[in-house]
Amino acid sequence: MTHKDDRAEFEAHKVKQSLALGRDKTVFQGSVDHMLQLDPYDYSYLWSWMGAPIIQMPADVMATQEVIWNTKPDIIIETGVARGGSVLFMASLLQLMGHGRVIGVDIDIRAHNRDTIETHPMAHRVTLIEGGSTSDSVLDAVRAEIPSGARVMVVLDSDHSRDHVLEECRAYGPLVTPGCYMVVADTMIGHVAEENAPTNRSKSWFAGNEPLSALRDYMAESDLFEVDEVLNGKLVLSSSPGGYVRRRAE
Ligand SMILES: C[S@@+](CC[C@H](N)C(=O)[O-])C[C@H]1O[C@@H](n2cnc3c(N)ncnc32)[C@H](O)[C@@H]1O
Repeated sequence: MTHKDDRAEFEAHKVKQSLALGRDKTVFQGSVDHMLQLDPYDYSYLWSWMGAPIIQMPADVMATQEVIWNTKPDIIIETGVARGGSVLFMASLLQLMGHGRVIGVDIDIRAHNRDTIETHPMAHRVTLIEGGSTSDSVLDAVRAEIPSGARVMVVLDSDHSRDHVLEECRAYGPLVTPGCYMVVADTMIGHVAEENAPTNRSKSWFAGNEPLSALRDYMAESDLFEVDEVLNGKLVLSSSPGGYVRRRAE
Protein backbone atom coordinates (compact mmCIF):
# COMPACT_ATOMS: atom_id res chain seq x y z
CA MET A 1 0.00 0.00 0.00
CA THR A 2 1.35 3.43 -0.86
CA HIS A 3 0.80 6.44 1.33
CA LYS A 4 0.60 10.03 0.28
CA ASP A 5 3.76 12.03 1.05
CA ASP A 6 2.49 14.14 3.96
CA ARG A 7 5.77 15.55 5.21
CA ALA A 8 4.97 19.15 4.29
CA GLU A 9 1.52 18.83 5.83
CA PHE A 10 3.02 17.33 9.01
CA GLU A 11 5.49 20.22 9.33
CA ALA A 12 2.76 22.80 8.67
CA HIS A 13 0.66 21.23 11.43
CA LYS A 14 3.61 21.47 13.85
CA VAL A 15 4.00 25.18 13.06
CA LYS A 16 0.26 25.85 13.52
CA GLN A 17 0.10 23.99 16.84
CA SER A 18 3.33 25.55 18.17
CA LEU A 19 2.00 29.04 17.44
CA ALA A 20 -1.35 28.15 19.05
CA LEU A 21 0.43 26.77 22.12
CA GLY A 22 2.50 29.95 22.32
CA ARG A 23 -0.71 31.99 22.55
CA ASP A 24 -2.17 29.82 25.34
CA LYS A 25 -1.40 31.78 28.49
CA THR A 26 -3.17 29.27 30.76
CA VAL A 27 -0.98 26.40 29.63
CA PHE A 28 2.12 28.59 29.90
CA GLN A 29 1.25 29.62 33.47
CA GLY A 30 0.67 25.94 34.28
CA SER A 31 4.15 25.22 32.93
CA VAL A 32 5.71 27.95 35.10
CA ASP A 33 3.82 26.62 38.14
CA HIS A 34 4.94 23.06 37.39
CA MET A 35 8.57 24.13 37.03
CA LEU A 36 8.37 25.88 40.41
CA GLN A 37 7.03 22.61 41.87
CA LEU A 38 9.95 20.73 40.31
CA ASP A 39 12.56 23.20 41.48
CA PRO A 40 12.89 21.91 45.09
CA TYR A 41 14.07 18.65 43.48
CA ASP A 42 16.73 20.58 41.50
CA TYR A 43 15.06 19.20 38.40
CA SER A 44 17.29 20.98 35.88
CA TYR A 45 20.35 19.53 37.64
CA LEU A 46 19.26 15.90 37.31
CA TRP A 47 20.34 15.25 33.69
CA SER A 48 23.57 14.36 31.88
CA TRP A 49 24.74 14.47 28.28
CA MET A 50 27.10 11.60 27.40
CA GLY A 51 28.12 11.33 31.04
CA ALA A 52 28.57 15.05 31.80
CA PRO A 53 26.04 16.95 33.96
CA ILE A 54 23.96 19.29 31.78
CA ILE A 55 22.07 21.91 33.77
CA GLN A 56 19.11 22.24 31.44
CA MET A 57 15.48 21.29 31.09
CA PRO A 58 15.12 18.47 28.52
CA ALA A 59 12.91 20.73 26.35
CA ASP A 60 15.81 23.16 25.92
CA VAL A 61 18.16 20.37 24.89
CA MET A 62 15.70 19.44 22.12
CA ALA A 63 15.13 23.05 21.10
CA THR A 64 18.88 23.72 20.90
CA GLN A 65 19.31 20.56 18.83
CA GLU A 66 16.67 21.83 16.37
CA VAL A 67 18.39 25.20 16.11
CA ILE A 68 21.83 23.68 15.52
CA TRP A 69 20.58 21.24 12.89
CA ASN A 70 18.53 23.90 11.09
CA THR A 71 21.23 26.56 11.05
CA LYS A 72 24.46 24.49 10.87
CA PRO A 73 26.76 26.89 12.76
CA ASP A 74 30.54 26.48 12.50
CA ILE A 75 31.18 28.16 15.84
CA ILE A 76 28.93 28.02 18.91
CA ILE A 77 29.94 30.32 21.74
CA GLU A 78 28.48 29.48 25.14
CA THR A 79 28.94 31.66 28.19
CA GLY A 80 28.46 29.53 31.32
CA VAL A 81 30.11 26.13 31.08
CA ALA A 82 29.55 24.82 34.65
CA ARG A 83 30.14 21.03 34.62
CA GLY A 84 30.47 20.81 30.86
CA GLY A 85 27.31 19.03 29.72
CA SER A 86 25.98 21.76 27.48
CA VAL A 87 29.23 22.46 25.64
CA LEU A 88 29.73 18.71 25.16
CA PHE A 89 26.13 18.29 23.96
CA MET A 90 26.55 20.97 21.30
CA ALA A 91 30.01 19.65 20.38
CA SER A 92 28.56 16.19 19.84
CA LEU A 93 25.99 17.59 17.38
CA LEU A 94 28.80 19.38 15.52
CA GLN A 95 30.70 16.10 15.48
CA LEU A 96 27.71 14.33 13.92
CA MET A 97 27.44 17.11 11.33
CA GLY A 98 31.16 16.82 10.62
CA HIS A 99 32.31 20.37 11.30
CA GLY A 100 32.55 23.12 13.89
CA ARG A 101 33.72 23.99 17.39
CA VAL A 102 32.17 25.11 20.65
CA ILE A 103 33.87 27.92 22.55
CA GLY A 104 32.97 27.65 26.22
CA VAL A 105 33.51 30.72 28.43
CA ASP A 106 33.28 30.56 32.21
CA ILE A 107 34.57 32.77 35.00
CA ASP A 108 35.43 29.69 37.07
CA ILE A 109 36.41 26.49 35.27
CA ARG A 110 37.14 24.13 38.14
CA ALA A 111 39.86 21.51 37.67
CA HIS A 112 37.46 18.55 37.89
CA ASN A 113 35.05 20.13 35.37
CA ARG A 114 37.93 20.91 33.02
CA ASP A 115 38.99 17.29 33.40
CA THR A 116 35.47 16.06 32.47
CA ILE A 117 35.52 18.19 29.33
CA GLU A 118 39.12 17.69 28.28
CA THR A 119 39.02 13.90 28.62
CA HIS A 120 35.64 13.53 26.88
CA PRO A 121 35.38 11.97 23.38
CA MET A 122 34.04 15.36 22.15
CA ALA A 123 36.94 17.36 23.66
CA HIS A 124 38.51 17.94 20.26
CA ARG A 125 35.54 20.15 19.32
CA VAL A 126 35.69 22.33 22.47
CA THR A 127 37.84 25.35 23.32
CA LEU A 128 37.62 26.62 26.90
CA ILE A 129 38.27 30.24 27.84
CA GLU A 130 38.37 31.16 31.52
CA GLY A 131 37.31 34.65 32.61
CA GLY A 132 34.36 37.00 32.95
CA SER A 133 32.34 36.76 29.75
CA THR A 134 32.18 40.52 29.16
CA SER A 135 35.82 41.35 29.94
CA ASP A 136 37.83 42.79 27.06
CA SER A 137 40.47 40.06 27.27
CA VAL A 138 37.87 37.27 27.07
CA LEU A 139 36.05 38.96 24.19
CA ASP A 140 39.36 39.32 22.34
CA ALA A 141 40.13 35.63 22.96
CA VAL A 142 36.65 34.62 21.74
CA ARG A 143 36.93 36.71 18.56
CA ALA A 144 40.36 35.19 17.87
CA GLU A 145 38.71 31.72 17.80
CA ILE A 146 36.22 32.67 15.06
CA PRO A 147 37.56 31.90 11.58
CA SER A 148 36.72 34.40 8.88
CA GLY A 149 33.37 33.60 7.23
CA ALA A 150 32.27 31.21 10.00
CA ARG A 151 28.59 30.88 10.85
CA VAL A 152 28.31 31.82 14.51
CA MET A 153 25.68 30.98 17.14
CA VAL A 154 25.68 32.18 20.75
CA VAL A 155 24.22 30.77 23.97
CA LEU A 156 24.21 33.08 27.01
CA ASP A 157 23.97 31.01 30.21
CA SER A 158 26.27 32.64 32.77
CA ASP A 159 25.42 35.31 35.38
CA HIS A 160 21.65 35.81 35.03
CA SER A 161 21.42 39.37 36.37
CA ARG A 162 19.71 41.80 34.01
CA ASP A 163 22.76 44.07 33.67
CA HIS A 164 25.17 41.24 32.94
CA VAL A 165 22.92 39.59 30.36
CA LEU A 166 22.31 42.95 28.68
CA GLU A 167 26.08 43.50 28.51
CA GLU A 168 26.47 39.99 27.05
CA CYS A 169 23.76 40.65 24.45
CA ARG A 170 25.57 43.83 23.39
CA ALA A 171 28.96 42.09 23.23
CA TYR A 172 27.98 38.73 21.73
CA GLY A 173 24.87 39.62 19.70
CA PRO A 174 26.83 41.29 16.87
CA LEU A 175 29.02 38.16 16.57
CA VAL A 176 25.99 36.07 15.52
CA THR A 177 25.66 35.45 11.79
CA PRO A 178 22.40 36.49 10.07
CA GLY A 179 20.02 33.51 10.13
CA CYS A 180 21.76 32.06 13.21
CA TYR A 181 20.53 32.21 16.81
CA MET A 182 21.33 33.79 20.11
CA VAL A 183 19.86 31.77 22.98
CA VAL A 184 19.32 33.78 26.15
CA ALA A 185 18.95 31.15 28.85
CA ASP A 186 16.75 31.25 31.93
CA THR A 187 14.22 33.75 30.58
CA MET A 188 11.66 31.71 32.54
CA ILE A 189 12.68 33.63 35.67
CA GLY A 190 11.10 36.70 34.08
CA HIS A 191 7.73 35.05 34.77
CA VAL A 192 8.41 34.45 38.47
CA ALA A 193 7.53 37.02 41.14
CA GLU A 194 9.95 37.68 44.02
CA GLU A 195 7.80 35.78 46.56
CA ASN A 196 7.91 32.63 44.38
CA ALA A 197 11.61 32.82 43.43
CA PRO A 198 13.60 29.63 44.01
CA THR A 199 15.89 30.01 47.02
CA ASN A 200 18.16 27.01 46.42
CA ARG A 201 20.58 28.90 44.11
CA SER A 202 23.80 30.82 44.70
CA LYS A 203 21.75 33.97 43.96
CA SER A 204 18.01 34.53 43.99
CA TRP A 205 16.54 35.75 40.68
CA PHE A 206 13.04 37.01 40.01
CA ALA A 207 11.14 39.17 37.52
CA GLY A 208 12.86 42.49 36.87
CA ASN A 209 16.50 41.49 37.39
CA GLU A 210 16.90 38.52 35.07
CA PRO A 211 17.57 37.48 31.45
CA LEU A 212 14.12 38.17 29.98
CA SER A 213 14.27 41.81 31.14
CA ALA A 214 17.75 42.06 29.61
CA LEU A 215 16.61 40.54 26.32
CA ARG A 216 13.58 42.84 26.12
CA ASP A 217 15.81 45.87 26.76
CA TYR A 218 18.32 44.66 24.17
CA MET A 219 15.60 44.05 21.56
CA ALA A 220 14.29 47.57 22.25
CA GLU A 221 17.67 49.15 21.53
CA SER A 222 18.77 46.89 18.66
CA ASP A 223 16.86 45.40 15.74
CA LEU A 224 19.47 42.76 14.97
CA PHE A 225 17.26 39.92 16.27
CA GLU A 226 13.70 38.64 15.95
CA VAL A 227 11.93 36.17 18.24
CA ASP A 228 11.35 32.75 16.69
CA GLU A 229 7.65 32.51 17.57
CA VAL A 230 7.32 28.92 16.36
CA LEU A 231 10.19 27.54 18.42
CA ASN A 232 9.39 29.63 21.49
CA GLY A 233 5.68 28.82 21.19
CA LYS A 234 6.22 25.16 22.03
CA LEU A 235 8.65 25.89 24.88
CA VAL A 236 6.79 24.73 27.94
CA LEU A 237 8.74 23.12 30.79
CA SER A 238 11.65 25.12 29.40
CA SER A 239 14.07 27.41 31.23
CA SER A 240 14.28 29.71 28.25
CA PRO A 241 10.85 30.44 26.70
CA GLY A 242 11.12 33.52 24.52
CA GLY A 243 14.92 33.29 24.74
CA TYR A 244 15.56 31.84 21.27
CA VAL A 245 16.10 34.80 18.95
CA ARG A 246 17.28 34.71 15.34
CA ARG A 247 19.50 37.32 13.75
CA ARG A 248 17.63 39.00 10.89
CA ALA A 249 18.90 38.68 7.36
CA GLU A 250 20.92 41.73 6.27
C1 LIG B 1 23.83 27.96 34.91
S1 LIG B 1 25.54 27.60 34.92
C2 LIG B 1 25.80 27.07 33.26
C3 LIG B 1 25.15 25.77 32.92
C4 LIG B 1 25.63 25.12 31.66
N1 LIG B 1 25.44 25.98 30.50
C5 LIG B 1 24.88 23.82 31.42
O1 LIG B 1 23.89 23.83 30.65
O2 LIG B 1 25.25 22.79 31.99
C6 LIG B 1 26.27 29.17 35.02
C7 LIG B 1 27.78 29.25 34.89
O3 LIG B 1 28.09 30.61 34.62
C8 LIG B 1 29.34 30.92 35.18
N2 LIG B 1 29.44 32.39 35.33
C9 LIG B 1 28.87 33.18 36.28
N3 LIG B 1 29.19 34.48 36.08
C10 LIG B 1 29.95 34.51 34.95
C11 LIG B 1 30.58 35.54 34.21
N4 LIG B 1 30.51 36.82 34.59
N5 LIG B 1 31.28 35.22 33.10
C12 LIG B 1 31.38 33.92 32.71
N6 LIG B 1 30.82 32.90 33.37
C13 LIG B 1 30.11 33.18 34.48
C14 LIG B 1 29.35 30.15 36.50
O4 LIG B 1 30.69 29.95 36.93
C15 LIG B 1 28.60 28.88 36.13
O5 LIG B 1 29.50 27.84 35.81
